[in-house]
Amino acid sequence: MLDLSILASKRLLLGLTGGVAAYKAAELARLLVQDGAVVQTVMTESACRFIGAATLQALTGKPVFTDLWQTNTDSNMAHINLSREVDAILIAPASADFIAKLANGLADDLLAALCLARDCPLLIAPAMNRQMWENPATQRNLTALQSDGVKILGPASGEQACGEFGMGRMLEADALVAAMRRLFRTKWLQGKRVLITAGPTFEAIDAVRGITNISSGKMGYALASAALEAGAAVTLVSGPVCHSPPMNAKNVKVVSAKEMLAAVKNEITHVDIFIAVAAVADFSATMAKQQKIKKTNHPLTLTLTPNPDILKFVADLPDAPFCVGFAAESENLESNAEDKRRNKKLPLIVANLVQDSIGADESALVLLDDDGKHFLPTASKISQAHHLIKHIAQLYKKQHD
Ligand code: C5P
Repeated sequence: MLDLSILASKRLLLGLTGGVAAYKAAELARLLVQDGAVVQTVMTESACRFIGAATLQALTGKPVFTDLWQTNTDSNMAHINLSREVDAILIAPASADFIAKLANGLADDLLAALCLARDCPLLIAPAMNRQMWENPATQRNLTALQSDGVKILGPASGEQACGEFGMGRMLEADALVAAMRRLFRTKWLQGKRVLITAGPTFEAIDAVRGITNISSGKMGYALASAALEAGAAVTLVSGPVCHSPPMNAKNVKVVSAKEMLAAVKNEITHVDIFIAVAAVADFSATMAKQQKIKKTNHPLTLTLTPNPDILKFVADLPDAPFCVGFAAESENLESNAEDKRRNKKLPLIVANLVQDSIGADESALVLLDDDGKHFLPTASKISQAHHLIKHIAQLYKKQHD
C-alpha cells in the first residue's frame, strides 16, 4: 500500500498526561501510525492511571517511556534525546496541571523535562473540566504558552466526563491528526498549477492483449500528493494503476499514450509546472484489432508505430511550463539521463535505476539540472517526493525571479 500522507516517516512524540480523555489517545496513536508516522509515546504517572502503557506500546510498536529515571532504555539522557529524535511533540490529553507546568518551565517528570529540552514544535490538546478551563490561572498559562510558540489544539465544547457541559473536551483523534498534517504542510508551491503524468500506458494489440511498461505509478502519485501538500493545484493524468489518487487532486484516467497526450493537451493551459513521471510505452500496434487474434502455429508479425513523446511536446510549446522529466535506466544512469535532459531541453531530469526502483516503495534518485548532480539516497518514495518538490520549487523560483 502506498502511503501518501504527509505524516509518512514523520517522527512524532505523543505525550499523555492524566485525564479521562487519555482513552482517545489510543485511537490517536493508531491513526498516526496508520498515516505512516513513527510514534514514540511518553506517559506521565497520572496518565498511566487512566490507560495502560501496554495499549500504547501495542498500537505504536514501540516501548512507552514513563519515568525520568527509567533505566531500561539505551538513552542515557532520555529527556534530551527523546525530544531531539522527533519532528514534533503532541501532548494529548494535556491536563490543566501539565499546562501549568509547561507554562512555568518545570521539568520534574520525563514528559515535562523533554518538552523543556525540545527544539521542535510543541502542540497540546487540552482536556479538562470546563471550570478548570475557564479558570484565569489556566487561561493565563495558555496565553503564556501561545506566546512561547506552543500550538493549542482545541478544546471542544460539549458533554464532559464529570457530567457537566462546556469547554474542555479534548478534540477527537481525527481532528488532531488533521492538525498534525497541517503542521508539516509547506508553502513551496502555493498558488502554482502542477500537471503530473503517472503510471504506465497500455497499447492494445487486440481485444485482450497489449504492450505496456512496468510501472506501479507510486512515484507519480507520491509527487501529486507532495505537490498538493506544498500548496499546488494538482492535475494527475494517470495510466492504469491500482492505487487511488490523492484527495483534492483532479484525476484524469487514461489508458494509451495517445489518450495521455490528449488529456495533457486538454489540461496544459495555465500550468506552471509539468512533471512527466509516466512510463509511456514507446510504441503502439499500427493496426490494433477489435477482436481477439486467434492463436495459430504460424509466426505473427506485429507492426509498431512510435508513440508521441508527451514530455517533448509540452517542452516544445512556445509558452512551455517548467518541465521535469524522469529517466529510468538500467545502465549508465547519469549519462543516459543527462542526454535525455539535453534532447528534451529540460531544466531538470530525475534519474533512477530500473532495478532499484520499479514497483518498490523506496528509491534512490539523482537529480540532474544546470547546476550539476544532486543525490537523494534511498528513502521512501513519499519522502523523495517531498525533497523533489522542494528542489523543483527552488529551480522554478530561480527561473522566474
Ligand atoms: O521513455 P523515456 O526514457 O524517453 O522517458 C523520459 C521522460 O519522457 C519521462 O519523464 C517520460 O514520462 C517522458 N515521456 C513522455 N512520452 C513518451 C516517452 C517518455 O512523456 N512517449
